[in-house]
Amino acid sequence: PRAGVLAGRRVLITAGPTAEPIDPVRYVTNRSSGKMGYALARAAWQAGADVTLVSGPVALDAPTGVRVVRVRTAEEMLQACRQPFDECDLAFFCAAVADKRPAAPAGRKLKKGADDAALERIELVDNPDILATLAAGKGSRVVVGFAAETDDVVDNARAKLERKGADLIAANYVGAGGAFGSDENLVVLLSAQGTSELPYGSKDDVAAAIVRAAADMLG
Ligand code: C5P
Repeated sequence: PRAGVLAGRRVLITAGPTAEPIDPVRYVTNRSSGKMGYALARAAWQAGADVTLVSGPVALDAPTGVRVVRVRTAEEMLQACRQPFDECDLAFFCAAVADKRPAAPAGRKLKKGADDAALERIELVDNPDILATLAAGKGSRVVVGFAAETDDVVDNARAKLERKGADLIAANYVGAGGAFGSDENLVVLLSAQGTSELPYGSKDDVAAAIVRAAADMLG
């Protein structure tokens, strides 16, 4: 076993966007590079954890030592998370999951012209909230959620903490030189204990700080 604040602990991380098919060549997705989730996976592994990373489609290499499960849709992501969540001590839900998906994806490519009716009105239905679904049965696990906000960052993130049943929310200031594909991030941590701003830094430094804060919450 490796040394560190998460030695002997099992950690689940979701990362990246999900891609929800309209037809075999088109999809609905969210803007997410996956960099924050992959940085968390590296940080958790460096802290000694056994790490499972459930990842939507991203252009990033599997971090050293980390078990990566690649998925495309939110429903696949939820299914892929169930067993690793059961077995984990700590989970970070960092994925930018599409809130809605096409209700009836076509089995063949829709043709411009002939299929305009289907292309011009795509009916969407709710995706599962992976964090809220799993956190509802979290027991003694520590659950960390993420929030990307442009304004009222702390108020929105505190509401999310309660609504989702998370123990900790890491809130990003979107547009303050962070998030979305950049290598830096400005993050505030919120829990029932209070609020603290992490020093502005690289996603790797921020990830290490989030991992330390979450590790402190483990029994
Ligand atoms: O509600 P919102 O999407 O802003 O919440 C963000 C948090 O919830 C993130 O931790 C994200 O990974 C998680 N989430 C999820 N499943 C969804 C939507 C969000 O796990 N369908």
